[in-house]
Amino acid sequence: MAYITCRDLKLGYDGRVVTEGINFEVEEGDYLCIIGENGAGKSTLMKALMNLNKPMSGSIVFSDDIKRNEIGYLPQNKEFQRDFPASVGEIVISGCLSKCGWRPFYNRSEKKIAEENMKRMDIWELRKKCYRELSGGQQQRVLLARALCAAGKLLLLDEPVTGLDYKVTCEFYGLLSELNRAGVSIVMVSHDLEEAMGHSNKILQIGREQVFFGDKNAYLMSESWKSFHQHHKDHCHQNENKQKRITGYEPDRKFEEADKNETYDAQYRGGDRS
Ligand SMILES: Nc1ncnc2c1ncn2[C@@H]1O[C@H](COP(=O)(O)OP(=O)(O)OP(=O)(O)O)[C@@H](O)[C@H]1O
Ligand SMILES: [Mg+2]
Repeated sequence: MAYITCRDLKLGYDGRVVTEGINFEVEEGDYLCIIGENGAGKSTLMKALMNLNKPMSGSIVFSDDIKRNEIGYLPQNKEFQRDFPASVGEIVISGCLSKCGWRPFYNRSEKKIAEENMKRMDIWELRKKCYRELSGGQQQRVLLARALCAAGKLLLLDEPVTGLDYKVTCEFYGLLSELNRAGVSIVMVSHDLEEAMGHSNKILQIGREQVFFGDKNAYLMSESWKSFHQHHKDHCHQNENKQKRITGYEPDRKFEEADKNETYDAQYRGGDRS
């Protein structure tokens, strides 16, 4: 049985529907990317999976193979209190809280897990610092280390690379692939289509209703991808023009260059879970 099975989900707030007709599964070993425009309901869906808000209708069923304390969750940046008055070390190890059960302290192995994940995310030197004194990118690394402490079998990540610099972003994606190869299932909300298409094996695109769920390669052949990708490119170009007007500089033209040699989509298709 799949780790998570969602059937006919309708999600919203105060009687107002955000998205509906959501049907998908997360299987052991999956790397599922959830994509969609701003306001489509991606974070709302992640919160529903974490039982932080209740679906208006439909069902979310977890298999017996996965316990809540084997899931690591990284909420979207804006949802974690930026001035949280605790140290980096305290926040990271709190990812192990659900492993403690009724025990009122962290044991040696939990402290070791926290240390390893702080080193992985390159924040070990910051462990005694107060979270609120850190930059946005450093804070994000703290929250990632915390999610990694909790993730035994499944990681739910809502736009995890927001605020990270290029080097840390690349390392983080590498780490995710490594974890995935080691058997950790990943569900990630992302606006980074390049990454989503590069490493995932399944795609869920949502809008007012579900647009697509299935195999990444099938998605890349679909009309849904063509129009979403085009829309994304147009949006990027608009932003580039705006940036150019403001700064006077020509921004990086990743999408245009890629289109010129027409390898972009082909690259994705071949770029299976490398
Ligand atoms: N707590 C809330 N109460 C009421 N409405 C909310 C709440 N949280 C989100 N919404 C609304 O639900 C809709 C979906 O929001 P959500 O944050 O899930 O979108 P998203 O797909 O994650 O967008 P983004 O890409 O910008 O992160 C939006 O219209 C938003 O204003
Ligand atoms: Mg969101």
